[in-house]
Amino acid sequence: MLPIPPSGHLLVLTGAGVSAESGIATFRDGNGLWENHRVEDVASPEGWQRDPQLVWSFYSKRRAAAMAASPNPGHVALADVERRLGDRFLLITQNVDGLHRRAGSQRLIEMHGNLFLTRCSECSRPPFQDRGLFEDRLPECEECARNGRCALLRPHIVWFGEALFPGDMERVQDFARSAGGDRFVFLAVGTSGVVYPAAGLVHLAKACGAEAWLVNAEPADNGSAFDHFLRGRSAEILPELLGVA
Ligand code: OAD
Repeated sequence: MLPIPPSGHLLVLTGAGVSAESGIATFRDGNGLWENHRVEDVASPEGWQRDPQLVWSFYSKRRAAAMAASPNPGHVALADVERRLGDRFLLITQNVDGLHRRAGSQRLIEMHGNLFLTRCSECSRPPFQDRGLFEDRLPECEECARNGRCALLRPHIVWFGEALFPGDMERVQDFARSAGGDRFVFLAVGTSGVVYPAAGLVHLAKACGAEAWLVNAEPADNGSAFDHFLRGRSAEILPELLGVA
C-alpha cells in the first residue's frame, strides 16, 4: 500500500492505460487509435485546416466509444482515495474520455481537454457540453452565425503544437510546492512517458521532494525518473496500492 500518512499529499498523473481497462484503445499499443490515421492528420491545427471533417469523424468515433464505456476499478480507486485525502489529493489526466469524473473524481485537471466539450474555432465563447456525433457533417457556431460570420465548431482538445489550457500547470505547480513540506507521493499510471509536458511532471514532483511511483503495463520512456515501478494492470494494482480493495 502507498505510504501516505495523515498529513501526506498525493499527486496522480494518468494516461491511456487507465482507460484501457474500460475498453478504450491506447495510443501507442498495437491497437492504438492512431493506427489508421497519422497523428498530424487528426490531432494538430494543420490537420484541422486540411480536413476538418476527418478530424470531426475521428473525435465522433472516440465520443461514441467513451459513451459506451464505464469507469473501471482503477478510476474508482482514485476517486475513493480522493475522498479520504481531500485537498491533499490532485489528479491530472491526459485522458479526454471523462471516465475519471464519471467515477467521482473532482480534484481533477483534464490537461488535454475533454471529448464532450466543444468550442468555436474562431470566437471566444466558452466551451460547452456536447455529445453530438459529426461523422459526415460539420457543426457551425450559432453565435458567429448570429453576427453574420461563418465559423466551425471544434473539439475542446489540446492538439499537438497547441498550448495547454491557461492555469492548469500553475495549479499542479502550486499543489507540488505546497505538498513539498510533508510526505509527498507522485504516482503515474498507464502512461508511456513520451508526451511532454505530462512526461516531465515526475521531475517537477521530485524537485518538490516527492517519492515517485509508476504503475504501468510496460516500462515507460521516462521510467528511470521513478523510485518504484509496479508492472501490471492498473485496474488490479490501483485498488490494492491505494488501500481501497
Ligand atoms: P500511450 O498509449 O502512449 O501509453 C499508454 C501506456 O499504458 C503504455 O505504456 C502501456 O504499456 C500502458 N498500459 C496499457 N494498458 C495498461 C493497463 N491495463 N494498465 C496499466 N498500463 C497499461 O498513452 P498516454 O501516455 O496516455 O495526447 O499518451 C499521452 C498522450 O499521447 C495522449 O494524451 C494523447 C497522445 O497523443 C493528445 O491527444 C494531445
